[in-house]
Amino acid sequence: MVHCNLLQGDARKVLRSLSDKPGERGKYRIVITSPPYYRQRYYGNNKDELGQEKTDAEFIHDLAETFITCRHILSEDGSLWIVIGDTRRNMHKLMIPHRLALKLAENGYTFRDDIIWYKKNNVSSSARQNLSQAYEFILFLSKNEKSYTNLDLIRVQGNEAREGRNKIPPPHLIQYEPINPDKDKVAKLQETIHNAKPNTPFNQLPSTTDISWAYGYDPEKYCPTCYRKFKRHATRKRIGQHQHYPIFAVCNPAGKNPGNVWEISTKAHYGNEHFAIFPEDLVARIINFASQEGDWVLDPFMGRGTTGIVAALTGRNFTGIDLYQENVNTARKNILNASAGRYDGKLVNVITREMQVIKSK
Ligand SMILES: C[S@@+](CC[C@H](N)C(=O)[O-])C[C@H]1O[C@@H](n2cnc3c(N)ncnc32)[C@H](O)[C@@H]1O
Repeated sequence: MVHCNLLQGDARKVLRSLSDKPGERGKYRIVITSPPYYRQRYYGNNKDELGQEKTDAEFIHDLAETFITCRHILSEDGSLWIVIGDTRRNMHKLMIPHRLALKLAENGYTFRDDIIWYKKNNVSSSARQNLSQAYEFILFLSKNEKSYTNLDLIRVQGNEAREGRNKIPPPHLIQYEPINPDKDKVAKLQETIHNAKPNTPFNQLPSTTDISWAYGYDPEKYCPTCYRKFKRHATRKRIGQHQHYPIFAVCNPAGKNPGNVWEISTKAHYGNEHFAIFPEDLVARIINFASQEGDWVLDPFMGRGTTGIVAALTGRNFTGIDLYQENVNTARKNILNASAGRYDGKLVNVITREMQVIKSK
């Protein structure tokens, strides 16, 4: 049973009152949100609506105020994820994500990454002197230096064969697991590498073929993750002047780190909902990476409740805030449907509660 708490009001005020309550301080493992863009959209005519400020500096000030308050209610290992696009004024890009990130780093957050959300179905603009905007940033900040993460839940299939120069090998040439690794041999090879001097001749160092045999991999067979032959499976180690001495390295068979460019299509608007919706797949990747089942997740600009929907599907508790009662009502309906199994979207990256249980076994 997951809990869901939906609040109507100006996020800054609601967050301030939450952070005054001892039970709310430190309660949230993650805050995920997509704030309004600067002067691109109107959600209603409330004077407290963010994005309507006279200047971009005021807008950044208001956003920063919101997220600085969030820091009080994040757990010590909690993280903040802001999906945010920039705004162009004539020839000037306002650098809103960069300026916001800087302000938050100055106010105690650790700036962890600026992930590029590449919208692969982006619509080209008619501009002739500027390039059309094909991405948004996902600012990843943590309350302290380290935060809770679980990379294994967001590993992706290697795309080297699809996009790069590696070819997909025939199935009988793929080796999924090591066969009879030889511990003594591995130890000897490691010792040789460890004790190598800058002037040790190259031919006295083991080759990746030698090392792959020792680890139980046939050097002529292919890795299931990157589709390279195991004898080409190497990372670099620096031994004195041998700066590029190749060392055998095994890919994780569960997939690779997704990196910090996320290629995810935008969603079509649902019926007559007029939000800048972020895709469930994007939210799911963050929730799976940065929180655990049973954790509390917060979205201070929840719109139609996408974060709450994914929280419900993945067994997280959710608090959502929006300035407009109508949005709170829509979000409530959407989240209730998702928790009752009436979610009819198509999910690609979402790892639901059931799948997580299987993965963690
Ligand atoms: C970009 S939309 C969020 C869309 C959401 N991520 C989704 O997928 O539906 C921004 C939301 O912020 C809300 N908003 C604007 N100013 C606000 C404020 N001061 N406090 C709380 N919510 C606000 C708007 O009503 C709108 O629903």
